[in-house]
Amino acid sequence: MKIGILGTGMVGNAIGAKLIQLGHQVKMGSRTAGNEKAVEWVEQNGSTASQGTFRDAASFAEIIFNCTAGAVSLEALEMAGAENLSGKILVDIANPLVRGTFPSLVPSLSNTTSLGEEIQKRYPETKVVKTLNTMMCNVMVDPSLVPGEHDIFICGNDNEPKLKVREILNWFGWKAPIDLGDLSNARYTEMLSAFWMPLFNLYGTPNFNFKVSVGKG
Ligand SMILES: NC(=O)c1ccc[n+]([C@@H]2O[C@H](COP(=O)([O-])OP(=O)(O)OC[C@H]3O[C@@H](n4cnc5c(N)ncnc54)[C@H](OP(=O)(O)O)[C@@H]3O)[C@@H](O)[C@H]2O)c1
Repeated sequence: MKIGILGTGMVGNAIGAKLIQLGHQVKMGSRTAGNEKAVEWVEQNGSTASQGTFRDAASFAEIIFNCTAGAVSLEALEMAGAENLSGKILVDIANPLVRGTFPSLVPSLSNTTSLGEEIQKRYPETKVVKTLNTMMCNVMVDPSLVPGEHDIFICGNDNEPKLKVREILNWFGWKAPIDLGDLSNARYTEMLSAFWMPLFNLYGTPNFNFKVSVGKG
């Protein structure tokens, strides 16, 4: 499959490398073609890896991963171009975090809305599926880094794209993603992402995750 990764940070790097290992063609996109980190990622990942602008990656792709800084993801997607996003699944991993010691979410992208929902509103022809955004990127592509059972969440407005993304999660090693329902649930998983940092500070390792246990009655 042809996959576009929007983002040259550690998430784009990890997801892109995993998809290459799984046998896909992956193009990493950036604000500028020839971005130093994207070029290095291509050098490390062989002939099925390529790089270009956000627009190049989106137009190349059958499926797109949004791995850009969440506070500016709408700007990045604008650069990708609505015509290159239309009709495609967009796996949205981004969290609209305001960076700081105590992370908080960008007010216009949280509480009564979310980044996922705002992307869906702006691009109604794109099938936005929110997932993978509640854990560190190495855990996203290798859940065995965290011992025992632990959970991943998925939400989106249509079932068919969610089924496709569940298949991809399965390739990554996730057995039973928790389907929260429609994309309005993105606001809660994005909120959870702000809770990640205090837990990281507490445990001193990024290799942890959330687990939901349900009792009877
Ligand atoms: N780090 C994790 O383990 C983790 C876990 C869960 C979720 N997330 C979420 O995943 C996303 C990616 O995280 P990351 O740490 O890999 O990378 P990041 O540093 O948050 O984002 C890097 C990307 O954002 C783009 N960007 C920065 N400023 C921009 C602007 N003004 N306009 C357009 N694009 C801009 C950069 O473009 P250039 O390529 O041009 O520099 C780059 O591609 C974030 O939303 C984060 O909250 C991260």
